Amino acid sequence: MLTLDHVTKTYRAGAFGGGSVTAVDRVSFTAAPGEVVSLIGESGSGKSTIGRMILGLTGVSSGTLTLDGQRVRPGKDFYRRVQGVFQDPFSCYNPVFRADRVFDLVRRAYHPGVGDKEWADRVEKAVRDVRLDPAQVLGRYPHQLSGGQLQRLLIARALLLDLSFLVADEITSMLDASTRIDVLNLLAGLKERGLGVLYITHDLALGTYLAEKTVVLRRGRIVERGDTQKVFGNPLHPYTRTLLAAVPRLNQPWDPPEPVRSCAFHEAGPSATTDLYETEPDHFVACAQLPDCGRTPA
Ligand SMILES: Nc1ncnc2c1ncn2[C@@H]1O[C@H](COP(=O)(O)OP(=O)(O)OP(=O)(O)O)[C@@H](O)[C@H]1O
Ligand SMILES: [Mg+2]
Repeated sequence: MLTLDHVTKTYRAGAFGGGSVTAVDRVSFTAAPGEVVSLIGESGSGKSTIGRMILGLTGVSSGTLTLDGQRVRPGKDFYRRVQGVFQDPFSCYNPVFRADRVFDLVRRAYHPGVGDKEWADRVEKAVRDVRLDPAQVLGRYPHQLSGGQLQRLLIARALLLDLSFLVADEITSMLDASTRIDVLNLLAGLKERGLGVLYITHDLALGTYLAEKTVVLRRGRIVERGDTQKVFGNPLHPYTRTLLAAVPRLNQPWDPPEPVRSCAFHEAGPSATTDLYETEPDHFVACAQLPDCGRTPA
């Protein structure tokens, strides 16, 4: 179980380190094994920062972040269990080496005792599992492969480890529709194997529908979270409503959504509370405009 409890990240900003930016502000949620949690929100809302903190790539400024009760401690044992796949797959490859070197690195670090034949079989299976043809992708250099192929090779690499948790940051944004569905099916398969997934996206991509839980982030704070059906079926925060209204319907003329109405509770500046109200079981929202706002937060 991954648990974030009032996790905050403040970056130093400005030429002389004088200013600071609170990219993530007292964010709390959990992700259980076999659960997909989708983290949605506009560009700059702090989604990748949360992913990077979970992966131990960025330190937590305050609050606690634990996996199965233990604080995240980056290292070999940790990365055997937790891996990330990112938006830009090119940045994960060294252009000088063949793309499948990423598998050699996994072998060297985690499976040094596995024989050549056995390892080649495992790699081939992982590559087929991500719907790639080993003959077409293995042995090639990164520039000879498409973004989607590189992305899927990274997921294949994750499959070769004994993973418990995957951070998937915008992994489908550069894939075409049919490849995207392949990758989403893959995530559904991982979920069935008991893997927890944080699915980060800035739009309500298909993947959102894989998620049993949804966390809506705006300017570093959670505005709404809970059971996906409840959050999308009955969105309460104006920002969540705007996000939903912005999804074009193919069979209807485009009707641009109204911009987010200002929310006094939420726009009150850095000192504003991040308390959420439980409006129904497993559905939490931060909004002063709720009729029952003002009661004690959950
Ligand atoms: N290393 C850093 N130093 C200073 N500020 C940073 C750093 N990384 C991110 N930020 C700032 O933190 C905020 C959140 O950034 P983050 O990358 O987490 O957003 P995001 O929600 O992933 O956006 P996108 O959808 O565009 O990927 C932004 O204002 C960004 O400028
Ligand atoms: Mg991002």
